Amino acid sequence: MKYPKELIDEVEKRSEGMKLEGLNKGAGPIHPALMIVGEAPGRNEIQTQVPFNGDSGKELMKSLASIGLRREDVYITSAVRSRPYSIKKVFSKKENKEVIKYPNRKPTKKEILAHAPFFDYEIKKVQPKLIVAVGNTALERLLGPGYKISKEHGKVISNTPILQLNQNKDGYEWSNEKYTIFPQYHPAAVFYNRKLAEDIARDWQVIGPYLKEKNYE
Ligand code: URA
Repeated sequence: MKYPKELIDEVEKRSEGMKLEGLNKGAGPIHPALMIVGEAPGRNEIQTQVPFNGDSGKELMKSLASIGLRREDVYITSAVRSRPYSIKKVFSKKENKEVIKYPNRKPTKKEILAHAPFFDYEIKKVQPKLIVAVGNTALERLLGPGYKISKEHGKVISNTPILQLNQNKDGYEWSNEKYTIFPQYHPAAVFYNRKLAEDIARDWQVIGPYLKEKNYE
């Protein structure tokens, strides 16, 4: 998706001083059946400019394939579009000295709010039939902190307003438009807990028939 220059400038200004690297734009067709909303790009996504292009992306593509969809069929974005990083001093055995590393990390609430104009812009342009929120960051960005994936995964939350930036641009308000949201575990969740693989596979098998039933394919 091409973002207008004013939008990029606005988000840059809102993000001043934050440990965020680069810009990885959301990608995919307009008016798709599915919009996937993740957390934030990692190093791989910033380097390749393709959202969900690393290990989590491989898991996500497997899930999409399980209901007959490919990357090109869906719109993919996330709550934050730059890479949140931390600064860590570690001892490198190879170099036999302390080196500084810049690993990926979860975005903060302030960073999510700073990037809110990107997500608001994308959702208005893309107008997906169904939003798949993968992980708590995405789900809370859409519906607020009362929603948790562990409780909501596998359900269809239909006809709901979502959070968007308020008039003062310093917090959120509910949208007039209504959306259908499908909360899912983040694809990286299986790297920390293999047992979730079954839940994830089962949850995706709810989305496929839902799209068919509604003629959204
Ligand atoms: N995780 C996300 O949420 N988005 C990406 O693009 C990659 C990993």
